[in-house]
Amino acid sequence: EVVHAVNSRLFSFCGGLAGDWMVTSIRAICGETLPDAERVQIHQGVSAAHEALSSGTKWCLRGVTSNDRYVTRPEKELLLAKQAPLGRATATHAALIPIRKSAPWWAMTQDERRAMFEEESHHIKIGMDYLPAIARRLHHCRDLESKEPFDFLTFFDFAPSDEPLFDRMLERLRSTREWSFVDREVDIRLKKV
Ligand code: HEM
Repeated sequence: EVVHAVNSRLFSFCGGLAGDWMVTSIRAICGETLPDAERVQIHQGVSAAHEALSSGTKWCLRGVTSNDRYVTRPEKELLLAKQAPLGRATATHAALIPIRKSAPWWAMTQDERRAMFEEESHHIKIGMDYLPAIARRLHHCRDLESKEPFDFLTFFDFAPSDEPLFDRMLERLRSTREWSFVDREVDIRLKKV
């Protein structure tokens, strides 16, 4: 069944009155912002996604984890060797950054996007500098039937003392050519309740 195939890969991020994460800020980097919320609840799976529409929920963003699109084998080995998992006891701060890319990005071919992403913009090379302090999970939204407002939901967690490091990485990434294709980006900072 189609719905079950995707079940464990589906994540919903719901902003509202309830949730394990307290919202400390919501800031539009590019394009329209999202409504204010006090908490964010993260749900995994399909049934949870339906339950998520409880009272007080202002917005619900959904995405699925997927196979890699751009990493080469050597890059993948380096990432696996250096990255940390989400949910470390010390990682009490987090960022949820939903991102949409423009039509010209999606009109490119796979090899053109890879060249822009890494050879031109060094996304992986930059990101690698911040492992293992920053842990991450990437969710894709484009292939879901629910009309999602973003193409990606990016989620990161880290120790409070590593937040300045995280901000430095964002400055570097946001000044790349890859980011000139980002047409909506909202930066949501969270603190574990
Ligand atoms: C994709 C690494 C930080 C946004 C990727 C991919 C890698 C990666 C390897 C490609 C996955 C694939 O092959 O499909 C990293 C590392 C980071 C980092 C190591 C350090 C923590 C960030 C940050 C953001 C971000 C801070 C957003 C503010 C994205 C997006 C994609 C992506 C939107 C999907 C791009 C696309 O498919 O067009 N990242 N990243 N990354 N990353 Fe990062």
